[in-house]
Amino acid sequence: MLVLGIETSCDETGIALYDSVRGLLDHVYHTQVETHAQYGGVVPEVTSRDHIQKLLPLVQTLLTRTECAVSQIDGVAYTAGPGLAGALMVGAAFARSFAFARDIPAIGIHHMEGHLLSPFLDRHSAHQLCFPFIALLVSGGHTLLIKVSGLGRYEILGQSVDDAAGEAFDKTARLLGLDYPGGPRLAVLAEQGDPRRFTLPRPMLNRPGFDFSFSGLKTAVAQLLQKQPEILSQAKADLAASFQAAVVDTLVGKSLQALKATSIKQLVIAGGVSANQALRTQLTTALASYGGEVIYPPLEFCTDNGAMIAYAGALRLLAGQKDDLQFAIKARWPLDELAAISS
Ligand code: KG4
Ligand code: ZN
Repeated sequence: MLVLGIETSCDETGIALYDSVRGLLDHVYHTQVETHAQYGGVVPEVTSRDHIQKLLPLVQTLLTRTECAVSQIDGVAYTAGPGLAGALMVGAAFARSFAFARDIPAIGIHHMEGHLLSPFLDRHSAHQLCFPFIALLVSGGHTLLIKVSGLGRYEILGQSVDDAAGEAFDKTARLLGLDYPGGPRLAVLAEQGDPRRFTLPRPMLNRPGFDFSFSGLKTAVAQLLQKQPEILSQAKADLAASFQAAVVDTLVGKSLQALKATSIKQLVIAGGVSANQALRTQLTTALASYGGEVIYPPLEFCTDNGAMIAYAGALRLLAGQKDDLQFAIKARWPLDELAAISS
């Protein structure tokens, strides 16, 4: 089955073609980073207008690159939520119309399920993975620890009670005067800093349960900055490194606690923040000393992309699931409400 995947939940237009036999044929995307940089953050209305302009040319580019014809596509998968309502609506309306015109099935995919399943896009990782495993999903809008018992069978063990990890990176980067998109820029600055220079809290780490809270960390950085308004560039790098270390320690600590509590040895990490090198390194070391292993998606599939949506869509369409003509987008959508996938 050849599935066209469409991702438009935020500021990236991602398109992919996934073949259930041959694997991922290719994917293309357009990032709106430059457009939003002038405003210092994502402007929801602007995202939807940009998706409208980019969707069709990107689909055409992908068809040319893969030498596929529209008539060969057997199904369409699109991100139905969570995300920005207007942006989701553009992708959903396009996907549903495309499928209707061609009389093929369409399915709305949960964006975080796309992230969660993205390691399966790498065949080597897919062979290593076995259920149940724990997934740490860290994106701009979500921080989730999930017990994955099977495809579509997700139990939320813990989640952010306020700012998500990526959001904390972005807000702290802004405090440090870094341009949007802040997370990756803060990570680059942190490489030149001393993570022991400033003492910052490891929120919730010593509390029972697996929830996260990162907004206090951002406030702690703001207070430190208030005390020294004329901060030197080395101190800034040290603050970035100290912040990053606090987030990484917390994510790694809570993941280990969840693995131990469930006696599970495999951890999958996905979502934009999983591109963070310090997090990857520390998780790999921690999992090795626990006698477990950590599995990541390939770097290009850590941040938003169409491939993960096409893949999740192929699994669900093959299992006979599909939307009816009256589709709905869900700006908020708990991951544990999804139907299991059984083919
Ligand atoms: O998954 P994603 O691409 O989009 C959402 O679904 O939100 O994640 C984007 C988030 C942003 O907050 C961005 O700052 C963060 O991931 N991010 C990073 C890095 N690369 C992306 N945070 C820390 N270090 C990075 N290298
Ligand atoms: Zn995402």
